[in-house]
Amino acid sequence: MSKPSQNEPLLVVRDLCTSFPSAGGPIPIVRSVSLDVHRGKTLGLVGESGSGKSTLARTVLGLIPASGGSVRFDGQELLGLTPRQWRPLRRRMQMVFQDPAASLNPRMTVAAIIGEGLRVHGLCDGRADSEKRVAGLLERVGLRSSDLPRHPHEFSGGQKQRIGIARALAVEPELIVCDEPVSALDVSIQSQILNLLSDLQDELGLSYLFIAHDLAVVRAFCDDVAVMQRGEVVEQADADTLVEHPQHPYTQTLLRAAGGGLGASEQVSKSASKQVSK
Ligand SMILES: Nc1ncnc2c1ncn2[C@@H]1O[C@H](COP(=O)(O)OP(=O)(O)OP(=O)(O)O)[C@@H](O)[C@H]1O
Ligand SMILES: [Mg+2]
Repeated sequence: MSKPSQNEPLLVVRDLCTSFPSAGGPIPIVRSVSLDVHRGKTLGLVGESGSGKSTLARTVLGLIPASGGSVRFDGQELLGLTPRQWRPLRRRMQMVFQDPAASLNPRMTVAAIIGEGLRVHGLCDGRADSEKRVAGLLERVGLRSSDLPRHPHEFSGGQKQRIGIARALAVEPELIVCDEPVSALDVSIQSQILNLLSDLQDELGLSYLFIAHDLAVVRAFCDDVAVMQRGEVVEQADADTLVEHPQHPYTQTLLRAAGGGLGASEQVSKSASKQVSK
């Protein structure tokens, strides 16, 4: 395989289709979607509930099979890979989920939750090394190393999401798919988590596919935005252009529904993120 060009976007999705089986035949959910996530940048994916955003994300990560199209990550085609071929890629592509409570195993300690990826991918040298690294990750996401032996129920929603982010970061990924990472949180906590994600991107050069339904959050946080309606991407543009000059009637409707209110995004922007304290 030829070496991928550094100019090629990290993630290139072309004509991707996903269907779910039903008694009456396959139901198309993701319908010929194309999009790019550039290196070190954030692509926002917006659209109403049920439009297929999570299904698209799960297909990209190989968690559900595609029925057609292409997904290239760092120049490598992902569709059709065997589980064994997927293994090294799983480390490079991580996910942060909408509901931090449901995505953390309540019976595991924070040390075990965050350390699992280190162990599975052979990135640590025994338990002491794992705990040392996990402690560093906890501090990086604004928690304390003394949180290591605690369980998820001992944390607030925002703190749980910090644990979810630390778990994703542990394996040093290049791409993180964030599926509505702040939707379940209070507005004041939303901006803290968005600022954390933004700082981590600056520091580590991460690329994000960021699913949201709040256009104001998307405008503040994303470089580019794709708008999804009934399984199709109907419009794609840089965030400011999309908000100021929406072309597609559906985008215009979404913007009207947002009413120009800024919500959490008032407190977060790519340039100002570091000025907002925890
Ligand atoms: N495993 C599945 N089997 C059958 N249908 C499914 C499955 N998962 C999702 N769907 C259907 O696919 C459609 C898209 O769902 P999806 O979860 O991708 O939407 P979404 O855009 O992420 O919505 P939300 O904003 O509410 O999270 C829905 O109609 C849903 O019922
Ligand atoms: Mg979803």
